[in-house]
Amino acid sequence: MKQYLYKPSNPILKNFPSTLKTRRLEIRPVRPGDGICLYSLLSENFDFLSKWVTWLNKSFSQDECEVLCRQYYADFILRQGLHFLVFTKDTSTAIGSISLSEIDWSIPKGSVGYWGALNHSGNGYITEAAGAISRFAFDCLNIKRLTILCDNRNRKSWKIAERLGFSLELQAKGLIDSVESADLCLTRQYVRWNADGLEHFETIGSDFFNDKHPLSSKNCHTLVDGYNRATA
Ligand SMILES: CC(C)(COP(=O)(O)OP(=O)(O)OC[C@H]1O[C@@H](n2cnc3c(N)ncnc32)[C@H](O)[C@@H]1OP(=O)(O)O)[C@@H](O)C(=O)NCCC(=O)NCCS
Repeated sequence: MKQYLYKPSNPILKNFPSTLKTRRLEIRPVRPGDGICLYSLLSENFDFLSKWVTWLNKSFSQDECEVLCRQYYADFILRQGLHFLVFTKDTSTAIGSISLSEIDWSIPKGSVGYWGALNHSGNGYITEAAGAISRFAFDCLNIKRLTILCDNRNRKSWKIAERLGFSLELQAKGLIDSVESADLCLTRQYVRWNADGLEHFETIGSDFFNDKHPLSSKNCHTLVDGYNRATA
């Protein structure tokens, strides 16, 4: 049987912090009740986002957003996909979303995705959030291979990967869906194998335990291992 570097090996038993705090942001998992927040973010930014976000359609309702949030919450509990909302620390304004998906715990590997509100763009917020989720993936989840996939035409998106020190691994047609074209989308695949140089963050509490103690991401293994020992 394959041995994981941190135990227990069933991903459902992995414990995560409830919030990550970076210099300017708070990042927390999407949960039931977030539908209204997601709906206003998506509807206010529809024209901007729909150019690149393939799953967005014009007629989505607030209820559909709530359904999506509850599906994300279920994915989170099953440790199949980790979807987060991103808030500014100073005003608690929701400014976008960040996710770790395509998770394969047997490697383990995953892929970072993101989108942000237009009126908060150009501040480096999404870069900061994507950097934190990347460090979280390596330090707390023991991810060994982390990718970012972008449409070759989506310069704003692949600039984030480059700013965070991901390397361009390959360019190939049809690795992701395309909104605008019937042709296969020329895709850039970026990769990182470690968290070197990524900023540290603070973690707050646990998503399953009522524990609000802040810890640095430098102590993330202690947090995860501690809870895992407590629940063994
Ligand atoms: C992709 C997307 C999130 C990029 O938004 P963004 O505002 O450029 O990203 P950031 O919040 O990280 O900001 C980076 C910009 O702020 C600038 N910036 C300002 N202060 C900064 C700081 N402290 N740190 C880093 N960048 C900073 C950067 O120079 C950059 O601007 P530039 O591209 O003109 O050089 C956004 O365009 C989007 O949501 N697009 C639609 C959805 C999408 O494409 N998702 C990706 C699918 S693969």
